[in-house]
Amino acid sequence: MKAVDRIREASELRPKIGLVLGSGLGNFAESIEDPVTIPYKDLEGFVSSSVQGHKGEFILGKLNGVEILAMNGRIHYYEGHSIDQVVYPMKVMADLGIEKVIITNAAGGVNKDFQPGDLMLITDHINFTGVNPLMGKNDDNLGPRFLDMTHAYPKDLQDLAREAAKEEGISLQEGVYMWFTGPSYETAAEVRLARTVGGDAVGMSTVPEVLVAHHRGVEVLGISLITNHATGVSDQVLSHQEVVEVSKKAEGNFKKLVTRIIERLGHAY
Ligand code: HPA
Repeated sequence: MKAVDRIREASELRPKIGLVLGSGLGNFAESIEDPVTIPYKDLEGFVSSSVQGHKGEFILGKLNGVEILAMNGRIHYYEGHSIDQVVYPMKVMADLGIEKVIITNAAGGVNKDFQPGDLMLITDHINFTGVNPLMGKNDDNLGPRFLDMTHAYPKDLQDLAREAAKEEGISLQEGVYMWFTGPSYETAAEVRLARTVGGDAVGMSTVPEVLVAHHRGVEVLGISLITNHATGVSDQVLSHQEVVEVSKKAEGNFKKLVTRIIERLGHAY
């Protein structure tokens, strides 16, 4: 059975709001009411995520009454899967009727004003990898061959996030997310490069998903959790353990912000 049909069969909910949970942010899934969980391994065409702090499942449920479809764990390009596999869950989300998606990640702070634990609204991105999931034959029924990126992160969703942060009393940084494939962290020289070209945060995900979502007309709101100073910003050596630990500490604010955003998005329907 096709993944889309399998998910439709698992629940009567037909959410229009999607959520992608990044590294260490999976605990958010516990806030989802009446959850129906579908592991990626049970879905045709899926590979499962192998990263610690990432589960690899879809969760259908509600958050304060608003229906959502969450990806608890994502597939990363550095796991060695093809870029098509990396973005397949996002394609399924679009096929299921998701209209707006909140994409989250853990990232290193390049901007010297950022501190570990900060949340950053993604205002734009830089794809530095040479990899683009839209390469190859284009299906014009799904989206255009040459995709305009002016509104990849729509301003009204950014404003909604700013207002939600204000209501919750959470200070929200803003900036440009720059994708590196990983799995090695960046060198100090790469982080200087990132800063020079306008990057505020570096990370190993998100951009492929944003490209596919935007191509299919799904509106994106991106939020990074800054888990560490990027290499060279401080003397600290990086570890995934630290990334996961800082995410746990920032979980409270993350949860409050995302919940408020989803409530506000829910009112639009
Ligand atoms: N670089 C890339 N990805 C990351 C980082 C980082 O410093 N921190 C968390 N994810």
